[in-house]
Amino acid sequence: MPTSAYLAGAAGAAHPSQVRTDSSSEPLVALALENVSMAFGALRAVDGVSLSVRAGQKYAVLGSNGAGKTTLFNAITGDILPTGGCIRWFGQDMTRLAPQARIRMGLRRTYQSSLLFKELSIRDNLFLAVRGVSAGRFSVLRTRSTHPSHLAVDDILERVRLDGIQNELVGNLAHGQQRQLEIGMALVGQPRLILFDEPAAGLSPVERRELVLMLKNVPADVGYVLIEHDLDIALKVVERVTVMHNGRVLTTAAPQEIEHNAEVQAIYMGGRHS
Ligand SMILES: Nc1ncnc2c1ncn2[C@@H]1O[C@H](COP(=O)(O)OP(=O)(O)OP(=O)(O)O)[C@@H](O)[C@H]1O
Ligand SMILES: [Mg+2]
Repeated sequence: MPTSAYLAGAAGAAHPSQVRTDSSSEPLVALALENVSMAFGALRAVDGVSLSVRAGQKYAVLGSNGAGKTTLFNAITGDILPTGGCIRWFGQDMTRLAPQARIRMGLRRTYQSSLLFKELSIRDNLFLAVRGVSAGRFSVLRTRSTHPSHLAVDDILERVRLDGIQNELVGNLAHGQQRQLEIGMALVGQPRLILFDEPAAGLSPVERRELVLMLKNVPADVGYVLIEHDLDIALKVVERVTVMHNGRVLTTAAPQEIEHNAEVQAIYMGGRHS
């Protein structure tokens, strides 16, 4: 997409903090998928999916391998263009918006650890990220410890429970600690919604418990959508669940209902391999 179109897209879509909210109305919907489809040739990886995530809501998308979960995330972030349907962000159509424009509007997803600077400390990685998205970002002057950027870093370090080892080099971190930092990086720059694709994959039981605590520390006004094969984690940390099967929505319900849904048990848990 040409730069001008990309910028126009970003300028045309206000950051949600600029979107007026009417306290008398229904809860604000952050993300709405309307009949979203993604076909790869004859394969309908995502087939007419509709769901909505309220601002600040903690949400899970579950389903067995190949159900279409990651493909759905790719459509939400703009990494692929869906072949059908509409994706709305605080009411505005963002179906065809460039990924960078979506990031500026407050959408995040967790990335692989290769995006971290391994030779720098945890704190410095977060600090660079915070400075990268704040005003005066190209300043090389040393900042005081009371500078807002440092305070933002302090807040994130605490939330992802890395404040105790903030000066450790990222290259020395255990797998689970790197995962913690990736979640910290997603919290930079006042996100409104974060997409987590299988954050527990490859983590030990102890690291999984740590992950649950971190997910519970995500600020109330920051929503997330979690893809997770580990039901013990997913059902503990979300308010709403959509179960996908063969690209379609099987059901959307509260976690307690999902836990006891026989159809979900048969299809999801029977065919589950994390
Ligand atoms: N770029 C692509 N080209 C062709 N087929 C694809 C592509 N990406 C995904 N698929 C197919 O789409 C289907 C859904 O894949 P997807 O990765 O979205 O599933 P998933 O629910 O994330 O599964 P898992 O739990 O294993 O991560 C699969 O059959 C997959 O092989
Ligand atoms: Mg996947």
